[in-house]
Amino acid sequence: MADLKVKIGSLVLKNPVMVASGTFGYGEEYSPYIDLNILGAIITKGISLHPIDGNPPPRIWETPSGMLNSIGLQNVGAKAFIKEKLSYLKSFDTKIIVNIFGTTVKEYAKVAERLFATQGVDAIELNISCPNVKKGGMIFGIDPKSTKKVVSAVRKVCGLPLIAKLSPNVTDITEFARIAEGEGADAISLINTLLGLAVDVETRKPRLATITGGLSGPAIKPIALRMIWQVAKAVKVPIIGMGGICSTEDALEFILAGATAIAVGTANFFNPNTASEIIKGINSYMTEKGIGDIKELIGGMYA
Ligand code: SIN
Repeated sequence: MADLKVKIGSLVLKNPVMVASGTFGYGEEYSPYIDLNILGAIITKGISLHPIDGNPPPRIWETPSGMLNSIGLQNVGAKAFIKEKLSYLKSFDTKIIVNIFGTTVKEYAKVAERLFATQGVDAIELNISCPNVKKGGMIFGIDPKSTKKVVSAVRKVCGLPLIAKLSPNVTDITEFARIAEGEGADAISLINTLLGLAVDVETRKPRLATITGGLSGPAIKPIALRMIWQVAKAVKVPIIGMGGICSTEDALEFILAGATAIAVGTANFFNPNTASEIIKGINSYMTEKGIGDIKELIGGMYA
């Protein structure tokens, strides 16, 4: 067996394959379809201080090679997450990364503080990139000053490995990665969704109730790869790559471009077993090529 272990800050993962926030519920929903024990980590749905109902429907639209969503960060809130969802997740042999967000810097810090004080959370992914809410999310991730403030505030109150999830809806992604690293983030997740629009030509109405939504899936893979390659040259912290990963070959492309780990997102909706297939596929690729340690592949693209 090849050595697939990777490190994200102080967090050691048995393999580099995770499932992305917002595409895997709270884990339980997927347990009939995939053995959660095999995953490097589960990144939970975004959690806020209080429960949120999300945006009105329609809030999903399939596009060529992708999906537009505008869920609006619907979630059960920190209290119910800790009480009802976390204990279930902790019964599996995998790491639990909790994606968090707030509507203000203070709220971000409060959620982070609360989860830091909770047994069983292995790391925090800071969502400063959701494009579907008016307050919070992407607002913090497309303005350098806000990114600085929120990463710094969370870092001060939270001793867990901290991962900043960046938005691709910016001109220079490296600027935001550098800020996050400078304020103490242990890793960078990228990319979240690209802001998009679809229109029904019969009704002349947008396909989503919120008009715009976040585009994910294979359509965004080349953009994600380009950003990972750019950020890998700009920062020293590890990158968790995501954006349209559906196969072993996709995952390997991300690793070769500079990602230390990867997360499967939209593919979970049409093949819940994707992450499992990728773990096996990476192993076979490494055996075939005589590569003993996954670290030999990270950033290994010849350019
Ligand atoms: C959503 O809940 O609207 C999507 C989550 C995200 O983009 O972070």
